[in-house]
Amino acid sequence: MRICILFGSLRNNSNTALLLQPFISELERLGAEVDCLKIKDMHIESCTACWACQNVFEGPGCPKNDDMNIVYESVMKSDCIIFASPIYSWYCTPPMKAVMDRLVYGMNKYYGDTKGPCLWEGKKCALVTTCGYEIEAGSGVFEEGLRRYCKHSKLNYLGKLAVRDINGKSYFQCESTVNAARDFANKVYNSLL
Ligand SMILES: Cc1cc2nc3c(=O)[nH]c(=O)nc-3n(C[C@H](O)[C@H](O)[C@H](O)COP(=O)(O)O)c2cc1C
Repeated sequence: MRICILFGSLRNNSNTALLLQPFISELERLGAEVDCLKIKDMHIESCTACWACQNVFEGPGCPKNDDMNIVYESVMKSDCIIFASPIYSWYCTPPMKAVMDRLVYGMNKYYGDTKGPCLWEGKKCALVTTCGYEIEAGSGVFEEGLRRYCKHSKLNYLGKLAVRDINGKSYFQCESTVNAARDFANKVYNSLL
């Protein structure tokens, strides 16, 4: 079982990274292989709507030759994709949005000369996020966006782990947060059995 985590925080000293630590440890303890891709350190351009990918059915088909190839490869061999991003202006960070755009076209061949396949159909997907506002006010819009994204992409949305940034770093390392991260890892893992 392989899980691809797309990690979109822009800070080195990141709340979302702290939340991911027990989540990843628990997944690995359970026996999953985890690929965690730190998007901010990768060279990933934005989709520029050339549409070339839409007539390539056997792979992503994007003519841009950048680190998105690493993301495509990891996503294609994974059973589950985790979008892990802090909330920025009610949505994800800009590099995460670029990855989502490149994936939603590279993987879904809906708009070419003839309708093609959905290359990631049936994979599972989940959200890990941190935000400054109360959970629903902070992360609700992005979660709803991701739900629609999953429906469009024939992905199975599993749910979210969301923690509010209220008390500084220690809040992300307290027992209840660590337990919530471990519980969510178990939920993801069990859904893949
Ligand atoms: C530019 C910017 C925009 C933000 N926008 C929101 C927002 O719309 N809603 C929210 O709840 N928190 C918002 N936050 C707070 C972050 O989501 C929160 O502090 C998060 O835990 C940061 O995670 P990180 O350390 O992994 O980057 C914003 C923070 C920044 C820097």
